[in-house]
Order: sequence, then structure tokens, then C-alpha cells
Amino acid sequence: MKLSRRDVAAYAREAAVSVLITDVGELVTNQPGIQAGAGREGPGPFAALAGAALVIDEGRVAWTGPAARAPAADQVIDAGGRAVLPGFVDSHAHLVFAGERGAEFAARMAGQPYRAGGIRSTVAATRQAGDGQLRANLRRLAAEMLAQGTTTFECKSGYGLTVRDEARSVALAAEVTPEVTYLGAHVVPPEFDGNPGGYVDLVSGAMLDACAPRAKWVDVFCERGAFGRDEAAAVLAAGMAAGLRPRVHANQLGTGPGVRLAVQVGAASADHCTYLDNADVDALASSATVATLLPGVEFSTRHPYPDARRLLDAGATVALATDCNPGSCFTSSMAFCIALAVREMRMTTQEAVWAATAGGARALRRADVGHLGVGARADLVMLDAPSHSYLAYRPGVPLVAAVWQGGERVAGE
Ligand code: NIG
Ligand code: FE
Repeated sequence: MKLSRRDVAAYAREAAVSVLITDVGELVTNQPGIQAGAGREGPGPFAALAGAALVIDEGRVAWTGPAARAPAADQVIDAGGRAVLPGFVDSHAHLVFAGERGAEFAARMAGQPYRAGGIRSTVAATRQAGDGQLRANLRRLAAEMLAQGTTTFECKSGYGLTVRDEARSVALAAEVTPEVTYLGAHVVPPEFDGNPGGYVDLVSGAMLDACAPRAKWVDVFCERGAFGRDEAAAVLAAGMAAGLRPRVHANQLGTGPGVRLAVQVGAASADHCTYLDNADVDALASSATVATLLPGVEFSTRHPYPDARRLLDAGATVALATDCNPGSCFTSSMAFCIALAVREMRMTTQEAVWAATAGGARALRRADVGHLGVGARADLVMLDAPSHSYLAYRPGVPLVAAVWQGGERVAGE
């Protein structure tokens, strides 16, 4: 939905007053305790209240509990029995790029395999694009996410692959999110064909120096056809020495060393986790590294879906994210990923919604989002449905009725 300037001003005024949202059919809090301060440690396990209410004050969740016991507030919104959830936390997206690869997708659906090398065509288009074009595309995608209930998202560089183009990608990403990831090590660009070591040196040296001031995370695509274990380890070590925190694209196209490397370096997240052996599962289960699953990729590449049940049953923390990018998966819809995870990956509706909210927050090491404990940022999604399960039960249906970000209504009635 597009907001007029007057709407934006009106919504901004609302943020200055306390708001009671009452008659919530199901309030998903991801926070079993409802006492003040319970949410300070970040999200807990999946938890939901029926017949609930929530108060927003100064951009934060000020109270949650049974509607019958709700305190007074300046403004009252009647949810009419609809469900309210924490805003989605999309912890993996590549939104700074130019061009599109619809023909590549169509060829895959006609039987061609997905190849990491397709990244190079987006790199060529991105290098040629002006800042304004990249910014417009990035903002359009960010707005698309917000309208669908994603109130926190991560954004990677990785389609520039020169010092100048990576630095501008990181700078553009920083305009729209604090969760900026430096992914100079996405693939080896053509000018370094035959000299991957030279490219790793650049990524770990001058390119890192140019990007680190505006980035929070360092990522590497550790995969056959991209970067091997030692190269990936070198890039992560350099990034960490520059103050960035690690996350890793791991085990997307086949088994390999990515997941274990992620755990070894204490990465916040190992992303994809499509092809895992037992040692990978054990490593994830006995670490704080989140297994971030990106089922839109398997949908769009016809690879088998990751085995979420195996990870969950072993005790690993699982997050769901979109991986929104023009190649392997061009969806910005967390609801779509939830539906896939439930139908195709044997996650329960509770597990999938937790993974798309609290799981994403864990993967970004954020305590203030992904849950609705008292003190959490008031990032909420109201569904045109009585329960979170409708996100999978009614796949493909636009169910987001309203979105609040930091207490401000940014979409919906
Ligand atoms: O996460 N795996 C590496 N990067 C992206 C794919 C990017 C592309 O194909 O352009 C991913 O799937
Ligand atoms: Fe990715």
C-alpha cells in the first residue's frame, strides 16, 4: 500500500500517544512471561495468548495480557478477533543489485540446473548501474518487504565485487537497514579468473577497509564454484579483525566445509544448510550458530528442501529467511517461506512462525525484535485471520492487514 504524505504525518502523530490494540484473537508474543522486563533477554520460545490485548507506548511494547485486564490508553484499536504477530525478521537478503534474471529462472524450470556463476551476470548489470537506479530498486524492495510485514531485514553487498562497487553497495544498504553485511566474497569476478588468491587478498584488504565502516557483518559464499574452506576462513578472519561479525553461506549446493567453519568461527548464522551430514547437524545443535533455512531458494532452483525436522529434533536453532535476490530466489515474502516450511519441510505452524520472527532475531543477535515481550520494539503485524496458522493454511493470500514499526503504523487500515 502506498501512503500519502498526510497519512505518514497522521501515523507519526499516533506514535506519540499510547495505543491499545484489543480483542486480539491470537497474540503471538514469543515470550512466555508477561511481567515487565521479561523480554529484555530477547525472544523466548513460541508463545501465544488468546483473547489478548497489547499496549504500545513510545515505540515499545508496554503491556500484553488478557483483553479483559487491559489498561487504558490514549487510542484504542479493535482487532476484531484477528491475530497479531511480531513483525517478521528477514535475516538474509541481497537487495542491492540491478537487472533481473527471469530468463534464467524459466530455463531452470525447463530443466537447466542452478549455477553459482549466474551471480556474475547481476554483477555486470550492477557495476553499470548508477547510484540512483540501485537506490530506487533497493527502496522498492524494502517497501515491498515492509508492506508484507517484514519490519527488520538484513541486506548484503556482493554484486559489485570491486572496491568502489562494494563500498557503494554497503553504503546504499546502510541507508535502509542497520543490518548490513559485507559480501565481497560472493564469487570470484571475471577479472580475477585464474587468480582467486588475488581476489581473496583484495576482499580481505582494500575492499574490506572501504566497506567495514558501514557494515556490521561479514559473509562468504563457501561452496564449490565460489570460495573453499581456507579462502572463506581467511575472509572471515580479516572481517572479524576489522570488527565485523561473521555469518556464512554454507552447504547450499552440496555438502562441504561451510557449516563447520561457521560454527568454528562462532558465526551468528550458517545460511542455506540444504546438504548436511551428521557432523554438520551435531555442530549446529551444540553451538549458538543459527541454521537459517531459505526454502524459497529450493523452490526456485528445484533443489531438495533442507531437512528442518532433523535440525530441530537435534536441538539446533532454526531461522527462516527469504534470501531475496534476482538469481536463486526472487521472493520478498516471509509468509511464502513460512508456507513452504510448513508444507514441504515438516515444520509445525508454530515452529515456522517462530523461525520467521524470533529465529531471525537470533540469527541477527537482536534482543529487541522477533518477540512482543514488554520492552520489545513495537514491530507488529496484524493478520486478516484469527491465527498465525493461516499464513500456511491460506498460502499465497495477502493476509497482512496492518503493520507497525517502532510503534508507528506504516501499512494498513
Ligand atoms: O544466497 N548463494 C549465494 N548467493 C545467493 C545467490 C545469488 C544469485 O544467484 O545471484 C544465494 O542464493
Ligand atoms: Fe544468499
